[in-house]
Amino acid sequence: MQQTYIMLKPDAVKRGLMGKIISRIEDKGFKIVDAKMFTLTQAQLEEHYAHLKDKPFFPEIVSYMTSGPVLGMIVEGADVIAGMRKLMGATKWLEADAGTIRGDFACNTTQNLIHGSDAEETAKAEIKRFFGK
Ligand code: CDP
Ligand code: MG
Repeated sequence: MQQTYIMLKPDAVKRGLMGKIISRIEDKGFKIVDAKMFTLTQAQLEEHYAHLKDKPFFPEIVSYMTSGPVLGMIVEGADVIAGMRKLMGATKWLEADAGTIRGDFACNTTQNLIHGSDAEETAKAEIKRFFGK
């Protein structure tokens, strides 16, 4: 069965939206097989968002993502990588359709509540990075 790395970002935790977001994942039929709360270190974040390191908004992402705990999860299911990306909605909040997590709960592109791996290779690397397995 396919697995993906999902992370509820600090705004999801601070806004008390963990339960609602987890319900959407479970209601869809995906299974949460591991979970932990932790605060990202700058080093973990720089590795995780290496593809964004040269962007002008990178410092904003760093201060936001290290501002409080996140909930990291391994989520399992058939085609869960693409399925979770669909449930999450587009990165930019104005492009995220209503009915998606970002479309319904976010009105800021940086503080967009949730991370989900975008491909099989990144899912494997992110599960290893954050869960060591
Ligand atoms: O999270 P996703 O895979 O949808 O998008 P990404 O391109 O991998 O970007 C990672 C994160 O950087 C986003 O989820 C946003 O929090 C942030 N970002 C931003 O603040 N402004 C952008 N123009 C693009 C991304
Ligand atoms: Mg991404």
